[in-house]
Amino acid sequence: MGREIVDLKNIYFSYNGDPVLEDINLKIMENDFMAIIGPNGGGKTTLIKIILGLIKPLKGNIRIMGEAPEKGRRYIGYLQQHPDLDMRFPISVHDVVLMGRYKGVAHRYTTEDREAVKKALITLGIPKLGSRHIGMLSGGQFQRVLIARAIVREPVLLLMDEPLASIDPEMQRSIYELFVKLRKKMAIVFVTHDIGAISIYIEKVACLNRKLFYHGPKEGSLGKLEKAYGCPVEAIAHGVPHRVLKKHFEDSGG
Ligand SMILES: Nc1ncnc2c1ncn2[C@@H]1O[C@H](COP(=O)(O)OP(=O)(O)O)[C@@H](O)[C@H]1O
Ligand SMILES: [Mg+2]
Repeated sequence: MGREIVDLKNIYFSYNGDPVLEDINLKIMENDFMAIIGPNGGGKTTLIKIILGLIKPLKGNIRIMGEAPEKGRRYIGYLQQHPDLDMRFPISVHDVVLMGRYKGVAHRYTTEDREAVKKALITLGIPKLGSRHIGMLSGGQFQRVLIARAIVREPVLLLMDEPLASIDPEMQRSIYELFVKLRKKMAIVFVTHDIGAISIYIEKVACLNRKLFYHGPKEGSLGKLEKAYGCPVEAIAHGVPHRVLKKHFEDSGG
């Protein structure tokens, strides 16, 4: 089981009175490899921002490694849905990853920070790209650079918002292989609107559409997933029923 990294209890959130999240309960444990699936507008990005303490819930309680999110978020490596970087900006891969070690305005990067960048680039399989301008990367390489930036602080949890969107299936496979490698060191959790992006490697699945339905652990039997919460069809992207999710798991070799 391991340690509890994230604990969300009875979380509610709304924008201008429109409920976006209702009574969300979720635990993320040390060894988790979890996907949270839901349609566009289902509240996935909002949930991630709440975990990170970037926005406050209306109600409910959040603990990250036993601390409030503002403090606890230092344990989390975060990959945003839309990168905050302009590809034309004259900056190298090394310097982008180094940003992940930033500790405030008075911070001077140390040798240790630079060593951590090297190590992250090796982990991501791009050790030779350090001096490359970010404008000279393929989409898949750029995604790896962003993941390197998210893990360069050696977080206990890598939390990603749609990490597999807009990359082709071949690239998705290689990113999955990377997750399988990374999860030996940290919990891996991502949100996606794309059922097709769920692979057999994932051990826990939750469905989010304002409410959250939790389906893990998988333990090789997906019948459980159908039974688990009375098949929350409305919680799956675009009304696609669970059958399709199950089929996909089988198709992907599981
Ligand atoms: N800053 C905002 N102000 C008002 N409404 C927002 C804001 N951000 C998101 N929303 C709304 O909240 C709902 C959930 O959005 P979001 O969490 O981004 O969903 P997802 O990431 O699952 O697509 C959507 O209906 C969206 O339009
Ligand atoms: Mg989103």
